[in-house]
Amino acid sequence: MATTFTRMDESTAEQWGVIGTESYKNQGRVADRVLGMLESLSDIVDGFATDQLTHCLQTATLAERAGADDEVVVASLCHDIGKAVSVPGHPAIAAAILQPYVRTDVYKMILHHQDFQGRHYYAHFGGDPDAREKHRDAFTPKEWDLAERFADEWDQKAFDPDYDTLPLEHFEPKVRQVFASAQIVPAASEGARYAS
Ligand SMILES: [Fe+2]
Repeated sequence: MATTFTRMDESTAEQWGVIGTESYKNQGRVADRVLGMLESLSDIVDGFATDQLTHCLQTATLAERAGADDEVVVASLCHDIGKAVSVPGHPAIAAAILQPYVRTDVYKMILHHQDFQGRHYYAHFGGDPDAREKHRDAFTPKEWDLAERFADEWDQKAFDPDYDTLPLEHFEPKVRQVFASAQIVPAASEGARYAS
């Protein structure tokens, strides 16, 4: 039996307080879902030399070994998580999952990563290898450097089945820490972020 409202226009502040508290208490499920989606990438190969989980783990391993901070490492791990749902549009899916939990530069690094990657393969489809340039105005020079480093030094090199790739368990504490709380503060009330 419902102990709260059945339509929003009859809701009360107290009821929203309960929803806010419950949602906050259950925040850990976000990391659980993300880890589950990452695990599901292990059965996606699609002609690559590694499955997509290995590719994501290897990208994160390269980032971590290069000294990247935790948000960048977790975003590197999750950059192709959108492929668990759909290859077309996968960068935007991953970026939307990460957006509440990471800095703007990290979000942009993931949102546009496919066009940055295009430097290394778009020509095979008759595309523009400099497709990344159409996004330049959306980046500060520092943000641009990070996005280039991600694509050129980590993502595009992370298809080697013989590389010493770290396992998902290694990254789990960082995943749990990054997804533990949203950085976006709701404008109106604590409950507002759960409203729609
Ligand atoms: Fe990738």
